[in-house]
Formats: sequence, structure tokens, C-alpha cells
Amino acid sequence: MNDMRLLERDVDTNDIKIAARDVQVYYGDTHAIKDVNVDIADNTVTAFIGPSGCGKTTFLRCMNRMNDTIDIARVEGVIKIDDEDIYDKNVDPVQLRAKVGMVFQKPNPFPKSIYDNVAYGPKIHGLAKNKAELDDIVENALRRGAIWDEVKDRLQEPGTGLSGGQQQRLCIARAVATEPEVLLMDEPCSALDPIATAQIEELIDELRQNYSVVIVTHSMQQAARVSQKTAFFHLGNLVEYGSTGDIFTNPQDPRTESYITGRIG
Ligand SMILES: Nc1ncnc2c1ncn2[C@@H]1O[C@H](COP(=O)(O)OP(=O)(O)OP(=O)(O)O)[C@@H](O)[C@H]1O
Ligand SMILES: [Mg+2]
Repeated sequence: MNDMRLLERDVDTNDIKIAARDVQVYYGDTHAIKDVNVDIADNTVTAFIGPSGCGKTTFLRCMNRMNDTIDIARVEGVIKIDDEDIYDKNVDPVQLRAKVGMVFQKPNPFPKSIYDNVAYGPKIHGLAKNKAELDDIVENALRRGAIWDEVKDRLQEPGTGLSGGQQQRLCIARAVATEPEVLLMDEPCSALDPIATAQIEELIDELRQNYSVVIVTHSMQQAARVSQKTAFFHLGNLVEYGSTGDIFTNPQDPRTESYITGRIG
């Protein structure tokens, strides 16, 4: 008998994309994520909020096994995506990361041209039959990343030559170019001006039609604008999780209330 199935039947299961059970993360002796249980819904934007150092990035990285790349990090517990254990030894982390895309806190374009930054993923995953199709995928992704107009005449220039905010939008374009099923975004707008931020928020809302999006943000306004579900983390614990409206207007835990009213943070 599969315990996971039993657990999942208790909650409304139809739309669960990611199920985390008893997740712990340690960096050496530091216990950074403590016993986190959460179901992340499909076709939904889920916001992770909480004070600096509470474990938002660490938990986000559990969902596409980016913690594998950190030597001292150790992950325990179970994380399933579409009912498949992503830490199973048969799962290829590279394939997993194509399905579960990520935008990092700091923009990290490849040392390649703007065009190749976006074309790289679709190429290695065989998403285009010819150059014209690849051109279309690249243009479409750059448009969704709200950066097409700024780069369309300089596609062969290096991605690293763009401004910080442009680099971040390039990374967003790169992440959506492979049509991931889940998109993890770690403070994607922290380097962006209000216009680009609004464009990215529109994109996030559009992506929700087909994907599950998880966004870490320090902006309560942004969480309230873009997300339907919110998870509040504090000192490695998932303190409260629910509909964004409830978390912001009727928090159940005093720590959540203090944070959203600006008393801790
Ligand atoms: N690579 C690492 N090595 C050692 N400890 C780490 C590492 N990354 C994070 N930590 C520790 O784990 C805890 C959680 O950090 P994490 O980066 O997940 O927090 P966060 O909520 O994303 O914070 P912020 O809002 O500042 O980005 C912190 O105590 C941090 O110092
Ligand atoms: Mg972080």
C-alpha cells in the first residue's frame, strides 16, 4: 500500500502537481528546512514568502534537485511530481530540470550570444525541426520574457553584455523556451524596473494557464498580485499555507501576521 496515495486522497487531489512529504534539508550541521509537507497545485501560481534566510531558496531548489549541486547539502523526505519520486535513482536530473525550469535570484546567462542562450535548450531537446522553427521559438520566448524589442537587432551579441535587468529577462526567456511544466522563480523581479516587472507578472499569469509556477518574492504586493496560493516560511518551517487571500487578510499564525504587517522581516 502506498502511503503517498492515502495522504493525497485526503486533500483534494485532482490538481496536485508537486507533493512534498517530511522534507528536511541540511547544510552540514545547519538544519535549513524542517519537516515541510506541502501540495503544490497545477495551473496555479504559488508564492513563497518569509524573512531572509528562512529557507525559501533552499526549498525551491529541492523541487528540481538543484541542491544536488551543493556538496554539503543533504535532502531527506519525498518529493513527487506527477506522482513520480524525483529523487529516485532512475531520474536523470538534467531531464528533470528541463521539465522543472528555474529562474535564479541572480541572472546567469550562458557565455553565448543572446540567440544561443534561448536556442540552447530547445536545440538539445529537439524542439525545432529546422532553423526557421528555432528562430520562431527564440522570438516567441524573447517576447514572453518582455525583452524582444530591446534585443531583436543584436541577437548575435553576448548575453552577458546586457544590463542586469535585461539579463534576467533573457534568463526568463531561456527558461520558458523549453516549455517546462513547472517554473520555479527565485525573486525574478528584484533587478527589474516597474515596467519590466509588470510585464513579467503578466507573463506569470499567462504561464499559469498551462503550468505550475512557484515564485519566491519579498514583495507582499507582488505575492498578492500574481499568486493564488501563498506559503509562509519562518526559520526553516512552513508555518502557514493557503489561499493568498486568506494568508493576507486572515492569517492563522501570529508569525505570519507579524510578517505581513511588517513587524518581522
Ligand atoms: N550553499 C549553502 N551553504 C551553507 N548554508 C546555506 C547555503 N545556502 C543557504 N544556506 C543557509 O540555509 C538557510 C536558508 O537559506 P536560503 O538561501 O534558503 O534562505 P532564503 O529564504 O532564500 O533567504 P533570502 O530571502 O535572503 O534569499 C540560511 O541559514 C542560509 O545561511
Ligand atoms: Mg533566497
